[in-house]
Amino acid sequence: MQALVLAGGEGTRLRPLTLSVPKPVMPLAGRPFLTFMLDWLSEHGVEEAILSCGFLSDGVEKVLGHRHGSMTIEYVVESEPLGTAGPVRLAHDRGLLADRFLVLNGDALTDLDLTAEIAQHERTGAAATLALIAVDDTSSYGVVPTAADGRVEAFLEKSPGPAPTNRINAGAYVLEREVVVRIPPERAVSFEREVFPSMIGEGLYGYMAAGYWIDIGTPERYLEATYDLLADRVRSTLPPRDETGSLVGEGCITSGARIGPMSVLGRHCSVGDESVVERSVLLDDVRVGSECVVTGAVLAEGVRVEDGARVDEMAIVGAGATVASGSRVAAGTRIEPGVRVDAGARVR
Ligand code: GDD
Ligand code: MG
Repeated sequence: MQALVLAGGEGTRLRPLTLSVPKPVMPLAGRPFLTFMLDWLSEHGVEEAILSCGFLSDGVEKVLGHRHGSMTIEYVVESEPLGTAGPVRLAHDRGLLADRFLVLNGDALTDLDLTAEIAQHERTGAAATLALIAVDDTSSYGVVPTAADGRVEAFLEKSPGPAPTNRINAGAYVLEREVVVRIPPERAVSFEREVFPSMIGEGLYGYMAAGYWIDIGTPERYLEATYDLLADRVRSTLPPRDETGSLVGEGCITSGARIGPMSVLGRHCSVGDESVVERSVLLDDVRVGSECVVTGAVLAEGVRVEDGARVDEMAIVGAGATVASGSRVAAGTRIEPGVRVDAGARVR
């Protein structure tokens, strides 16, 4: 089986983190995000992954290379963003796609049963089968009501007003080649707004998926996915966590500090005496001084937090920024890469 992974979005909602690292390879629980997706695809028999990239694509190729275990990885790079369906047409026109293939949104962490989805697709003779997952708040997703036999009755992409069902598009499709010819070539095309709505009644089915699923595309959900991985709420091949449920990368110096619960430290971080880091993510090479408090925050690569500073819940500090001594970054604040928060300042 072959899978095309859509990994060309700009990751706007994850800024400032995605200003320096493309979303598909943003470290999640210490690993490039897409490696979780590649593991999952591999478990379901995918032997060939095609990564569809645009924005910062070199970064993705440099991190993931051309192999993941026994799976091969190919890249299709677009010069202009082609939306979600346009890249599939591009891959087809380059002769890369088989008669049947999977398409995945490249920002979901999930263990849903792709094998069962493919089996249902075969049984119904569908042209396209979409994995659907139940969520509490449907407003930022594609809502997909279906008939009892699984046929899709409507595709409502982020439409306002009350939703007819809590089943949303999980961004995991099984497609037949006949769907590709519905995608106009050489322009941006959306599966959700153009292709799927035009296929209602023409072989478009939903597969009721169960299991874990989350779109990591906002800071809140990125942290939620981190905690869920640390707590084993999603199947993964993560190394064992320490007694506080945390993962501390190689070369970290943290003696004298309290790390955890539920934190991730990348490689070569240091946290000084009497400092506390809890429910937070530190990417590589972060230095936290002494008597600091970092709670529920994300510190990107190379951030410096000087003595006595605080970084509060849901604050995101961009790569290479400095939070100078005694300053405080209030809850929900985003600090741009390279910025310096002055000593004693309070930013919100
Ligand atoms: N190659 C390429 N080119 N990929 C793109 C482009 C593009 O122009 N635009 C978006 N993508 C990729 C993103 O990187 C992401 O992996 C995926 O396509 C979906 O785009 P998002 O921007 O993350 O969409 P969304 O999260 O708002 O909505 C989509 O996902 C929801 C589930 O998370 C839709 O498919 C919804 O229907 C769905 O419910
Ligand atoms: Mg998304």
